[in-house]
Amino acid sequence: MVRLPLYWLSAVTALALAAPHVARQADTYPCTDGVFILAARGADSNMVSPIGVDPNYQDLEGLENIANAVIQHVGKGSYYRALPYAASIQPGVDFVNIGGGVDKAQSIIKDYVSRCKNPRIVLLGYSTGAQVMTSTLIGGQLRGNLDAYKQYITAGALFGDPSFTLGYEPLDAGNSTTTGASARSASDATYFNNNYGSKVRNYCQDKDAACANGGLGDEAVAIHLAAVKVYGQDAINFLNSVIH
Ligand SMILES: *[C@@H]1O[C@H](CO)[C@@H](O)[C@H](O)[C@H]1NC(C)=O
Repeated sequence: MVRLPLYWLSAVTALALAAPHVARQADTYPCTDGVFILAARGADSNMVSPIGVDPNYQDLEGLENIANAVIQHVGKGSYYRALPYAASIQPGVDFVNIGGGVDKAQSIIKDYVSRCKNPRIVLLGYSTGAQVMTSTLIGGQLRGNLDAYKQYITAGALFGDPSFTLGYEPLDAGNSTTTGASARSASDATYFNNNYGSKVRNYCQDKDAACANGGLGDEAVAIHLAAVKVYGQDAINFLNSVIH
């Protein structure tokens, strides 16, 4: 199978999405004494515009298992929501699509903090969704960062982030020895690590097609697709250790 750069995810994720479509969640974010978890899936083959919402946005590709484990651990009315964003990469316009997701995540976070008295927010992201969450925090795609809100970001776990940047610990996790296809600048990666390294883990396995820029071969794609499964338990242990 021929896989085109920027578009290869579409070919593989379409197969994984044969599951029946779940009922659409209410895109409301009630205040909770527990944690509010916002999770972003990876891109699929639906050619949704940057301001649109992917019809599969609630199929979280395994992130829901992590969210549910954290909800069980924290209790107190904790809940999760899937980020309603385009979840789409199209050749040449992935930059604006990711930016559309950043706009949505930042506005949901700002609104939640402004309304709620003890905001504790946990971010999860896989693949393009991980890049969206990274850009949401540090201000990618020409958006501002969330510096004024960082005390309300309690924890996060990202998997297979194409913007994974090697050499920033403790943020970096997994055993990748290479940087991602859309790696951050040194100043952005330093900002991310300095401000979120104690509470966010960015998991990348060696040879992953996206986060390790491992190419589009079958092994690299398989590693990318397995990221949440491979690192999920480690992420649950980490999240539960930093959320009090
Ligand atoms: C990287 O870690 C994964 C998951 O633990 C493991 O399966 C894989 O063999 C490791 N790869 C290398 C090159 O060490």
